[in-house]
Amino acid sequence: MTPWTSDEPARSPFALPRGVRGRLAGLFMLCTNRQRDLLGLLGVRAGERILEVGYGPGGLIRHLRRTPARLICGVDPSPEMRDLAAGPHRAQIAAGRIDLRIGTADRTGFADAAFDAVVSVNNVGLWPDLEAGMRELHRVTRPGGRVLIAWHGGRRPSPLTRRLSLPEHQLARVERALRDRFSGVRRDELPGLTVFGAVR
Ligand SMILES: C[S@@+](CC[C@H](N)C(=O)[O-])C[C@H]1O[C@@H](n2cnc3c(N)ncnc32)[C@H](O)[C@@H]1O
Repeated sequence: MTPWTSDEPARSPFALPRGVRGRLAGLFMLCTNRQRDLLGLLGVRAGERILEVGYGPGGLIRHLRRTPARLICGVDPSPEMRDLAAGPHRAQIAAGRIDLRIGTADRTGFADAAFDAVVSVNNVGLWPDLEAGMRELHRVTRPGGRVLIAWHGGRRPSPLTRRLSLPEHQLARVERALRDRFSGVRRDELPGLTVFGAVR
């Protein structure tokens, strides 16, 4: 898998976590990736249906679970990450409130306009095809629904986060791809994340 941000296939266990190294990478991400600040930008309202693309070990799912969302869904291509992310939520999965599936940004497997909000963190830079991913996010977001796309960076990046941040010209491509399909595109700089928000 070669991400659109690179000329070479991604080999890191953080990009596509597999096996023991992938699980260790997942545990590391759970400890280090900051996600809670995103909730303020996402503003989940009672009864909403939320999709997370690339949930990884499930750091954001743990926060979403405490919101008044009616349905919290996710797609990620890594079975190891699905196990890790699903672990703390067995009861809510059985009750149908949380639904974590295997899937990718360009093929989520969900119906048209199925979600009030779609969020993706530290993930967009790994997609093989930026445009195909954006098309799919647009398809599954209901008219008037919100999209948030976040990547390492922001106004107070840690040394690790700074190393992982995308160059400005690639951030500009993300913003352009959003503007091509969504309205109200804006950019926010959280302490450790650069976040693009838009409305379908
Ligand atoms: C760096 S981790 C980030 C996980 C989590 N969002 C976080 O911030 O802690 C990247 C995740 O993206 C997933 N991923 C890789 N390619 C993907 C794709 N094409 N579509 C969706 N997710 C993908 C990986 O399996 C991995 O779980």
